[in-house]
Amino acid sequence: MTIVDKIEKLKKEKNAVILAHYYVKPEVQEIADYIGDSYYLSKVAVGLKEQTIVFCGVEFMGESAKALNPQKTVLMPDLSADCPMAHMADPEIIQKMRDTYEDLAVVCYINSTAELKKYSDVCVTSANAVKIVKALPNKNIFFIPDRNLAHYIAGLVPEKNFVYNEGFCPTHERMQAEEVLEVKKEHPEAKVLSHPECRTEILEISDYIGSTSGIIRYATESEEKEFIICTEEGVSYKLCQNNPEKKFYFPNSVPTCPNMKKNSLEKILHVLETGENEVQITEELREASVKPLERMLELAK
Ligand code: 13P
Ligand code: SF4
Repeated sequence: MTIVDKIEKLKKEKNAVILAHYYVKPEVQEIADYIGDSYYLSKVAVGLKEQTIVFCGVEFMGESAKALNPQKTVLMPDLSADCPMAHMADPEIIQKMRDTYEDLAVVCYINSTAELKKYSDVCVTSANAVKIVKALPNKNIFFIPDRNLAHYIAGLVPEKNFVYNEGFCPTHERMQAEEVLEVKKEHPEAKVLSHPECRTEILEISDYIGSTSGIIRYATESEEKEFIICTEEGVSYKLCQNNPEKKFYFPNSVPTCPNMKKNSLEKILHVLETGENEVQITEELREASVKPLERMLELAK
């Protein structure tokens, strides 16, 4: 029996479902029941009929799935798969901003720990941030943790006053505009599609900016044939599957998230066999961190 057959068999026996982010390895995306961006995965996690969710992503995704579904078992193939940006703010800074600004909303990118969500008013993802920030009654927005996404959203919602935090995604931050321009020189017809976690200099030379699913949708619906993709290379699995006739190039450093890549078929099989790596969160933290997530799901409808 192959490892994939074993996973399929155990999934049925254990009443489990596999969710995967677009950044995980192709062989993991291939066996997933649901693949998507952070917003889609948080929506889909609510209302699944299966009792066990195997979440192939990073810690904040497993934590959010558990917070939204306390009665379910959420397993992660590798509990050390964590997003460094998720930790790049702290409750003291949030409190300081609350003391400094009147009429402030603390807007928390979903790429954040449950602890940070607890102190926030609403969560957003790159797919719904503009809509949600616009819908907030507050004038002042303290956006944590990602400064690149915050600057991008601020440009689209000029009626709000943004206060920035110094967080960033190491994988997207490493990409340089010069690298993108080099690829563009080789492929002048190619359109540049970027994730808003990229540096502002990259966003300024992009033809489209959006979440991972936004990038995939744009490339799939476009009449163009060549694209330079400025996000984690895992998206190439879906891009190539949807568009076998189109060409996709990445900046030469090929952005790779080491944490997303910790998910593997062997580890999925292991957690299905043993029930190990269950996401644990105290009821107090769950109740507090689920509020901004639920508000996001409500406002994004
Ligand atoms: P998306 O919400 O666009 O999938 O992005 C998640 C992420 O981790 C980006 O680095
Ligand atoms: Fe975090 Fe960046 Fe990895 Fe996304 S790509 S999970 S933001 S480190």
